[in-house]
Amino acid sequence: MKQQDMQNLAERRAQAVALGASNANPYFAQKAQGAEVWSLEGKRYLDFAGGIGVMNVGHANPKVVAAIQEQAARFTHTCFHIVMYEGYVRLAERLNQLTPGDFPKKTILVNTGAETVENAVKVARYYTKRPAVIVFDDGFHGRTLLTMTMTSKVKPYKFGFGPYAPEIYRIPYAYCYRCAYGLSYPSCGLACAHALEDFFIKQVAAENTACVVAEPVQGEGGFIVPPLDYFKVIRQICDKHGIVMVADEVQTGICRTGKMFAMEHFGVAADLTTVAKSLGGGMPLGALVGKAEIMDAPHVGGLGGTYGGNPVSCAAALAVLDFVEESNLCERAARVGQMARERFEQMAGKYPLIGEVRGLGAMLALELVSDAKTKEPAGEEAKKLVAYCQDNGLIALSCGRYGNIIRTLMPLVITDDQLDEGLAIIEKGLAQISRA
Ligand SMILES: Cc1ncc(COP(=O)(O)O)c(C=O)c1O
Repeated sequence: MKQQDMQNLAERRAQAVALGASNANPYFAQKAQGAEVWSLEGKRYLDFAGGIGVMNVGHANPKVVAAIQEQAARFTHTCFHIVMYEGYVRLAERLNQLTPGDFPKKTILVNTGAETVENAVKVARYYTKRPAVIVFDDGFHGRTLLTMTMTSKVKPYKFGFGPYAPEIYRIPYAYCYRCAYGLSYPSCGLACAHALEDFFIKQVAAENTACVVAEPVQGEGGFIVPPLDYFKVIRQICDKHGIVMVADEVQTGICRTGKMFAMEHFGVAADLTTVAKSLGGGMPLGALVGKAEIMDAPHVGGLGGTYGGNPVSCAAALAVLDFVEESNLCERAARVGQMARERFEQMAGKYPLIGEVRGLGAMLALELVSDAKTKEPAGEEAKKLVAYCQDNGLIALSCGRYGNIIRTLMPLVITDDQLDEGLAIIEKGLAQISRA
């Protein structure tokens, strides 16, 4: 594309595409491979974003590309509810096997992460015949009306878009770095998990609560990892009151944390698990997987949609799962995470701007603070660091309540050299910002 045409493209984007659809970077993609993306100008970027955690198996993974091509040439759509196809059934079988929980499971396929969460709430409400849904501070579950309501952060996700969906209630999460109760783990006795019982006294009766929906590691909220015994308490409380426990594994699933699903780290199985993002290897796909008894509660025709479990997306997902197995991708994620964590911890020793290094597996984050004692969030510095990365060939993402957290969602097929290169860019950026 000529220089002039590329400039025109930015102008055409401004004219034709709604302002609300944000763009983190000013350039357009030409191609992407593994952990690299090339802009139309031909500039190469290392990718630590993976299209927000979607490309765990790498851009243009040859196995996934071949499966998409093969399926697209056979048929691209029949609607599973009209004419069935084997790929949908096979994917459901595999997800029933792979998700945590040693009990009979069933699956429904949809298109997006938000749709999986919508369906989790529908199924839990139908099964329990109760209305209330409990979610957490700093949780993120999507941008549809229901999931936007379930999402915590007001700006930009909710502001001006009310009124919101009813019967959504929020309690603090296990954000130990900024504990809502001012306590420290383990002497806190997991007060934040036990607060659920208190909530049933002060806010909504347990008998009116359909489900508790939690990300095992919060994603957009800041890569917040609860203590490893946290979900055991949540599980016990849900069991005691007949409440459906939902694990939103949209961002954490498919090896990101070094396990197929993050809940495995906690030794807990949720009743329902939502899966999307990296499942489709870049194709739009979501899955709600859960206890057969709960999943089978809604009547025939109560769940579904025109495109849910599209055959091309199913073929891509089956290839993703094959690749995950054949390449031991979860082990690779654990290794990538270990290498990055070591480097981040060295950086934390040098740059007081890093308040905390945290994460699980390759889902790692740096929380930036301008004062280590007061933990004053360094949102502006995080913006500068992301901009530095952009200028120096690395696609980086921030997140968190105050936008002061830098997170890593690189494709897990990233090579050691590429990882080093990306981490070095972050370190140089930290050095420059710290000097300023
Ligand atoms: C934990 C979690 N749930 C749900 C969603 C929504 O997924 P989607 O954007 O595919 O609707 C996201 C997206 O970032 C997410 O991280």
